[in-house]
Amino acid sequence: MTNINSDKIINSLKNKDKVKILFVCLGNICRSPAAEGVFRSMVEEKGVGKRFEIDSAGLYGGHAGELPDRRMRVHAFQRGYSLIHHSRPVRMSDFEDFDLIIAMDDSNYQRLRSFATTLEDQRKVVKMIDFVTGFPQYDCVPDPYYEGAEGFELVLNLLEDGCSNLLNKLN
Ligand code: 4NP
Repeated sequence: MTNINSDKIINSLKNKDKVKILFVCLGNICRSPAAEGVFRSMVEEKGVGKRFEIDSAGLYGGHAGELPDRRMRVHAFQRGYSLIHHSRPVRMSDFEDFDLIIAMDDSNYQRLRSFATTLEDQRKVVKMIDFVTGFPQYDCVPDPYYEGAEGFELVLNLLEDGCSNLLNKLN
């Protein structure tokens, strides 16, 4: 579902030579590293990889240093994505280092917004679901950690839809 605030920040990035995007979830072992991998694969396929700096991080640091959850890696690999990011916690410098900070769910979004120290930084925080058009029944990218295979497939379906729209809007 499109959102006027997300559209505004995206429009302001359209003409930038370099666009730096950080995807954020709770653990940084399922949704956000998958978003990073899907988006990276799409920019490379389009031949615009050099224009983007892409990273991911988590609001909970308990998995720091770990590769993505094995289930996430397996489901992603079946669609041609290699997830090799190592989990890291969100840091305050991320607000300086990135143009766009994309939260996977409402809780991630509210916490990230509460960390921002300026309005400009707060406006950098948007929701992944704002870019998803094909799944109107979802208002977030749901946490798959305690779910079965369908949860991981759903995450990838939402991310492929959202990342493709995000890239089209930025390009
Ligand atoms: P993620 O999933 O936020 O998509 O990486 C989770 C991973 C780990 C935990 C929660 C969510 N956890 O509580 O350890």
